[in-house]
Amino acid sequence: MIPISKPIIGEAENQAVLEVLESGMLVQGPRVAQLEEKFASICGTKYAIGVSSGTAALHIALLAHGIGPGDEVITTPFTFMASVSSILYTGARPVFIDIDEDTFNIDPALINNAITSRTKAILPVHLYGLPCDMGPIMAIAEKHGLAVIEDACQAIGADYHGQRVGSFGVGCFSLYATKNIMSGEGGIITTDDDAYARRCRLIRNHGMERRYVHECIGYNLRMSDLHAAIGLAQAARLDEFTEKRCQNAAYLNTHIIPYTPNRTLITPKVYDGYRHVWHQYTIRLPGCDRDAAARQLNEAGIGTGIFYPIPANKQRPLVELGYGEQPLPVSEQLAREVISLPVHPALNQLDLEKIVTEVNRLSC
Ligand SMILES: Cc1ncc(COP(=O)(O)O)c(C=O)c1O
Repeated sequence: MIPISKPIIGEAENQAVLEVLESGMLVQGPRVAQLEEKFASICGTKYAIGVSSGTAALHIALLAHGIGPGDEVITTPFTFMASVSSILYTGARPVFIDIDEDTFNIDPALINNAITSRTKAILPVHLYGLPCDMGPIMAIAEKHGLAVIEDACQAIGADYHGQRVGSFGVGCFSLYATKNIMSGEGGIITTDDDAYARRCRLIRNHGMERRYVHECIGYNLRMSDLHAAIGLAQAARLDEFTEKRCQNAAYLNTHIIPYTPNRTLITPKVYDGYRHVWHQYTIRLPGCDRDAAARQLNEAGIGTGIFYPIPANKQRPLVELGYGEQPLPVSEQLAREVISLPVHPALNQLDLEKIVTEVNRLSC
């Protein structure tokens, strides 16, 4: 089976973990600070703050903006649940707007109508590694005095008109095992703002800057040095991994046939001014039994993923909170149609040819 994702773990990662183990400094040692420095340079920001997961990054980023009960945060339902649950953790209310059919990302034209006196932030998700249309999003945020918290968990290294994601507002990244670079579990917050960075660090570590002096009620959402060591070894290979993902995606886009007598398929569009980092290569199968198509591919040895089959507003906890009835037609349609194919850097030419052959053979 060609897996849908595959972490690339080599001697550098093994060695990095051993060094930390042998140093005895498993937590709060030098590796987290080194990874933070590396990440800030990757994103072009003044600060990067290492935390325990992408979810923790989002949670802290919202709290450090003072977002809480009574506040509203605008986001999309076509995302991993953590984009939404992190808002709920703070006591604030997610306000959903629909996505753009071609990019899978927030439709900036719909943001203005969702703004109320309670709106505190916009939380765009750079889904699958494609940046959101940050120009209009930042303009709206500035006009209304809103924070922008970028869910860049899937998009490390992506650019919008030459600027890195995570450097427009506050960036939240995941280093979960299947991400473009990973540390097993882990997350990063990026910002240029000194006071904001300090608040994030306080929330990450029990509200402490000086030992046992607590300036606020924080959490334990720290990153360990073991995780940071893996992340550092991976970060050194970010450009190489991204380049391979881009080459794989270009091959799939060129060789997958959109129309055959047996089915219609929509391949991802590529836009000028966007550097897509292809965390996922996601096609659409309109009018098809998508789950049957996934089975056909799996039986032929091609791993697939459905990201995501249910929009967040239709998930049980949100339905119980009174969401669910709001029509979000594009998100609902894409949740029925999408299927992701392997695009990760461990694919070889034979793998790519096999994926193309089987996708072109699909009938549904
Ligand atoms: C869009 C998005 N947001 C948030 C997260 C949460 O990241 P983590 O799994 O590191 O908590 C993920 C990870 O899967 C994600 O894909």
